[in-house]
Formats: sequence, structure tokens, C-alpha cells
Amino acid sequence: MEAILLVGGQGTRLRPLTISTPKPLLPTAGVAFLAHQLARAHASGVERIVFATSYRAEMFEAAFGDRAYGVDLAYVSEDEPLGTGGAIRNAARALTCGPDDPVLILNGDILSGHDVRAQVKLHEAAAASVTLHLTEVDDPSRFGCVPTAGDGRVTAFLEKTPHPVTNQINAGCYVFRRSAIDAIPEHEVVSVERETFPSLISSGAVVMGYVESGYWLDVGTPEAFVQGSRDLVLGALASPAMPGEPGERLALAGARVAPGAVVRGGTTVGRGAVVEAGATVIGSVLLEDSFVAEGATVRDSVLSRGARVGPGAVLDGVVLGDGAVVGPGNELRCGVRVWPGINLPPTAVRFSADD
Ligand code: GTP
Repeated sequence: MEAILLVGGQGTRLRPLTISTPKPLLPTAGVAFLAHQLARAHASGVERIVFATSYRAEMFEAAFGDRAYGVDLAYVSEDEPLGTGGAIRNAARALTCGPDDPVLILNGDILSGHDVRAQVKLHEAAAASVTLHLTEVDDPSRFGCVPTAGDGRVTAFLEKTPHPVTNQINAGCYVFRRSAIDAIPEHEVVSVERETFPSLISSGAVVMGYVESGYWLDVGTPEAFVQGSRDLVLGALASPAMPGEPGERLALAGARVAPGAVVRGGTTVGRGAVVEAGATVIGSVLLEDSFVAEGATVRDSVLSRGARVGPGAVLDGVVLGDGAVVGPGNELRCGVRVWPGINLPPTAVRFSADD
């Protein structure tokens, strides 16, 4: 089976991590995020993937070449971003399959443990134009929702509302009949979610919902990105691309964790990264050459390449850009993002235990 992988977005919600590296290439549990998707796609029977690129297009071919994780790869880039539907249509130029064959469409920022083979089987049994993976969430009001009839046919594509009619949401993995892709207008900006799916439904085409609610995560925000990496390291989602066994931490070659340091909760310590004695790092992503000094505490945070955390500093839910420095004694929490190269000086104020 062939697949198209959508990787052209700018990943604005993940800045500053995505300033130098597109979201799908961010190191996640020791390898590029996409490595997990490629390996899982291969395990689901995908033999060839066309990357639909736009933002920093050249970096994808440089990272994966023409074959990786058992899958043949091709690259099609858009001069201007064409949206999800336009990108799928544009990338279809590089498909080799026939008009009735199924084509898997993957979003480049979704970690999913669902059974792709079962989704394709439903698609073929129903002779559908498109079959969407739907997942059930606790709070569907944060998403558009996708109701289905008793036979599994999708009945509507509804915008976000405070009173959703179902807790099923679009999980971002589709099987398209090749001819349904070819029917998307060429060279135009098109959204599959807002245009293609609603118009297929209103024209009476068979659009099926494959409902499976196992592990599913959209890693579009810093909190979700850290969670995805943590879950892979801890083994909550198995990935054939993981460079080690699941466990409390993944330390890559050349990482240095001092004997007196506490590093756990699914933390990744990248090449050349250092955690000094007396430091505590929990559920975090430490990229190449980053540094956590003695007595510092880092929780649920990302330290980009060469970022440094000074002695006694506390970070909780924080993103440090490339080379950012947090001086001794600073305390940063709750979604704070420090841009590349910024240097926060040591805190002048010292608190005693009585304060
Ligand atoms: P944000 O800017 O943070 O919303 O992230 P994003 O740019 O990745 O957008 P979003 O999460 O909505 O995109 C979902 C998937 O579609 C991601 O894998 C994107 O890379 C991809 N994508 C979004 N727009 C385009 C586009 O115009 N062209 C291509 N080729 N891919 C796109």
C-alpha cells in the first residue's frame, strides 16, 4: 500500500522549537518524530510513502533519503502551502497505484496506536470513497466532532461547539480511494476537513468512520510534544523506532547523567547532554548538548540544543530554545517559552525557608 504523509505545516504552536526544525523532525524519544510513524506504517503494511512538504522542505529528504524504516520514500513540495486537501492532491502526482486502490493519508504530528489494517479492511468492505479514523475523547467540545450512523457511515462534519452531539473526533488518519484524491481540485488551497469531507458527504459518497480509541495524541503543543516523547520512552505506545528498551529514562550515546542525579518519568537525555549530581529531571526532553546543573529541577520541559539550566533553577512545563540560558536560582513555570540565545541572569533575590 502507498501513503501520503502531510508534513508541510509551520508548527507555529511549537515555536521556538520549530524555528530551526519542522515539527515532524523534532527529536522525540531519541529519533525524529517521523521515525516512529514510518516504522509503525511499515508494520501496518505500507511499502511506499510520498511526503507532502512545504515549510523547510529540503530537511526531510536530507533526514530520510529514499528509503527508511523499511519504506520507500518520495518527496513532493508545494511552492505555497496548499492546505491539507491541496497538499494531498499535489502529492498524488507521485503515487503509482491505480484509481480504485486505497491510499493511506497520515498527519505528520499524530501518534496513534490504532489498527491501520482494520481501518483499510473496513474501507474495502464498504467500498468507501474515504474511511476516517475516529477516536473518542472525554471533552469533545475542544474539537470538531464527527457523528456516524449505525452502519458506520459518517453523517456530518461538525465545527467546534459547546454542545457536541458525539464524543467522536477526527483522528487525522484517512484511507482514500485513489480516484477520490484525483477529484480534489488541483493547484488550489483546499482543506479536507472543511471542504472535501463535507462535500463528499453531501454528494452521497460513502464516507466511513472507523472508531477505535486506543493510544492517540496530537503532538501540536509543547505539553503534548513532551507527553508524546515521555509515553514512547515509558512504553505507553510501542514504537519499533525506539533506540532502546522502554523504561524510566532513555540516555543516548554520549549523554552524561551523574550518579547523584535523579532522571526518570520517561525523560530523554540527548547526545552530549549533561545532568549534574543533585539535579532532578522528570518527564522531560533534553536535546543534544543541553545542560542541567547541580541542584536544578526540570519537570515536563524541553531543553533545545545547547540550552543550559543553572544551579538550583526550577523549570516546570517550560520550553528553552536553542542555546537559551536560565541562570542560577530562576523559577519558570506553566508554559513559559524562552527564545533561542536568550540569557536569563541569576536571580538577585534569595528566599529563605521562612519566607
Ligand atoms: P500549527 O501551526 O501549530 O497549527 O501546526 P501545523 O502547521 O502543523 O498545522 P496542523 O497541526 O493543523 O497540520 C496538521 C498536519 O498537516 C501537519 O502534519 C502539517 O505538517 C500538515 N499541513 C498543514 N498544512 C499543510 C499544507 O499547507 N501543506 C502540507 N504539505 N502540509 C500541511
